[in-house]
This record gives sequence, structure tokens and C-alpha cells, in this order.
Amino acid sequence: MNLEGKRILLGVSGSIAAYKSADIASQLGKSGADVHAALTANAAQFVGVPTFRALTRNPVLTDTFEEPDTKRIAHIELAQSADLVLVAPATANILAKMAHGIADDMLTTCLLATPQSTPLLVAPAMNTQMWLHPATSENLRILQARGVQVIPPGSGLLACQDVGEGKLAEVSEIVAAVMATLGTAQTLAGHHLLITAGATREPLDPVRFLTNRSSGKMGYALAQEAIRRGATVTLVSGITNLPPPHKANLVRVETAEQMLKACLEALPSVTGIIASAAVADYRPLQVADHKLKKREGEEEVVLRLAKNPDVIAELGRRKRPEQRSIGFAAETQDLLANATRKIAAKNLDLIVVNDVLKEGAGFDVDTNIVTLVWRDGKRNALPKMTKAEVSRHILDAYSELPRWRGQF
Ligand code: CTP
Repeated sequence: MNLEGKRILLGVSGSIAAYKSADIASQLGKSGADVHAALTANAAQFVGVPTFRALTRNPVLTDTFEEPDTKRIAHIELAQSADLVLVAPATANILAKMAHGIADDMLTTCLLATPQSTPLLVAPAMNTQMWLHPATSENLRILQARGVQVIPPGSGLLACQDVGEGKLAEVSEIVAAVMATLGTAQTLAGHHLLITAGATREPLDPVRFLTNRSSGKMGYALAQEAIRRGATVTLVSGITNLPPPHKANLVRVETAEQMLKACLEALPSVTGIIASAAVADYRPLQVADHKLKKREGEEEVVLRLAKNPDVIAELGRRKRPEQRSIGFAAETQDLLANATRKIAAKNLDLIVVNDVLKEGAGFDVDTNIVTLVWRDGKRNALPKMTKAEVSRHILDAYSELPRWRGQF
């Protein structure tokens, strides 16, 4: 498989198996990948920085935190632009740090700065007792729940002379796992998706606004996954703190009206729409030019609001019959009845319903619990999973939607 154009961050932690990472770097590089190695201080004791520099033809990240260009933070940019991150070998120590968000060196800092939507693979290598220790099992469970893919170690004679589990998986197996992940079938090649994400922000005066708790994580995960599947993505984003997905055409907006304008501009050229943004239904009727002052004796104030446009409903009215559209419904009660009503009102092909009151669902968490509801009434209730995984289910469903409504 050709990995041309794919950027891989290869994390190497301090196990004797670190010498095998040089082979991994070499094989990935020969397949066309742009490999960037990041070594922990212990890894650098086992295998030299110049080896990785020569094999990858890229600077090697180590613990020196020397940034050649002071205007950029190269290691953060790298973490955010990687198409895949592989930690091989992954020691018990680095798995523990990853599970608990510890960033105390260059590699763990890069790992923490990697967007949740970037595929992350770990190939553990350690002594059998360490591998079997409940702490390691628990850390792996945490990581897997977050969508981290574990390439399990094999059994054999270990460097400590023990015989048992903990041996780094074969290099060929690790490279194959990378290929399988990056080689995601380009099922959306030729598609152009318009994705809305994040919260809108409706100003009241120069210092205040109305907004909501949306983090934008779901929409950004969808954009990332659609790009991996070969789609062109126009991401119309409200307020988030997330780094923009690599290669998305990002249009930043603040208010619902700005979001509608940006979406209407994109509409003629897209093949489908996914509306995951949490759009404010109302905005302050008047936006004051100056900061509103409190008045003596005024214990209550009434804020008058004006109705905002419904972005996806407006797109639903104007879209061509072959343009498919998917909406979201954030509900706290009568989930399915509300979902069915919204499918009709917004002319959707599919709606993704979530009960935002459930733990592990909704706003500002990395997981979601959703039910997909189709226009013909078909449903698929998914268990709790990461937003990256939810996005895969949504895009699988998107790909299978009939092109013409008449086919329902
Ligand atoms: N939506 C939109 N523009 C709005 C409101 C919602 O585009 N002004 C979109 C959302 O992006 C989502 C879907 O409509 O895809 C449903 O959003 P939701 O907030 O669940 O529903 P509302 O239509 O706002 O209905 P209600 O608040 O009454 O539940």
C-alpha cells in the first residue's frame, strides 16, 4: 500500500524493543509516509537519535524542547497535523501516562496535544508481570475506551530472560496495522460534505453573548473522518477550542445568521450536509453598542429575543434532491417522537438523536450515546462510544443513503 502524503508521528519509548522501531520507521518511510520520530529520554539510551534522523529524513523530537523557529511550536503543530500516531514500543509507563493525561516530556506532550480524532495505535512491549499487572490492564481499558487501537504483544523469550507475554508484536504486523488504519477505503472520494459544528454565539452587547455548551467535538470528528475517507469537507464552525482538522476548508462564524450565510454559499457545490452545530434558536433582539449598565433599583430585567433562522431547515428547503442531509437532535425527553418530527420539518434523510442528560452523551464529553433514525422509521441504537467511532457509524450510514428520496 502507498502511504504517500500521510504524516505519521512515531513515538518510541524506553524498551529494549526500541531498536525495532528503526525498522518500523524505515518500512513506513519506504511506503511513502512522512515519518516523524519522537523519542523519550530512555528510548534514546537504547537507540540513537541519528538513526531515526537518517531513516526518516526529518528532525527527531527529543526532550530538549529546542524549537528551531521561535514563531512556531513545531511539536504541537506536528501532533496536530499527523494523520496517524503510533507508539511502538509502548512501555507500561507510557501507557499509564497516556491513560491519565500526563505530559512530562516531549513525547507525552505530543500525545496529549494530538486531536482525539487522529487514529492512535500503541504496540506494547514489556516484562510479562508488568503486562499482566492490573494497573496496565486498567490503563489499556481506559485507552481503548477512548478509541486507541492496541496491537497486542506476542509471547516468547523476553530480554529479561522471562518467557511469556509482553514481546513487541512483529514489525510486519505493526506496519500492517498502520496500513489498515490509514488505508481506510476512500468511500467518500468525489463527495463534498458541508459540516456545521460547534456553538453559535449571539451578542447582547460588546462584552456579553448567549451561547451553549457545545464543544464542537462531534462535528470536528465527523470532518476528520470524512477527510480520511476521501471527501472534501467545508467545515462551517461556530465557537470551539479545537484545532481545525487537517485539510478541512474551515469557515469560522459566530452567529446563526453568519452560519446560514456561510452554508448557503457552500450549498451549490456540496453533495451532502451534516448539521452537528448547536445553533441558538434565538438571539438578543437588540445588540447594544455599549456595555449595558445595571440600573439602581432594577431587580429584574426582561431580555427580548428574536428568532434565529433554522440553518439546516433552510438548507433542507433549498437543497437539490440528490443532496443528502443529516441532522442532530439534542433531546432530554420524547427522543424518538421529536426526532421523527425534526426529520420532516428539516427535510432530513437521517437524524442522530442523543439524550444529552445521559452520562457519557452530549456536550463537552469525548463519548456519545446516539440512536440513528432514518426517514423511513428504521432505527439503530448505538452503545456508548467515542465521538470518533460515532462519526464512523454516521458516515457509513451516509454512504448507504439512497441518492434519491424516491427510493425509500
Ligand atoms: N439547527 C439549525 N439551526 C437552528 C437550530 C437547529 O441548523 N437554528 C439544527 C442543528 O444543527 C441540528 C438540528 O437542527 O442538526 C436539531 O437541533 P436541535 O437543537 O435538536 O433542534 P431544534 O430545531 O432547535 O428544536 P428544539 O430546540 O425545539 O428541540
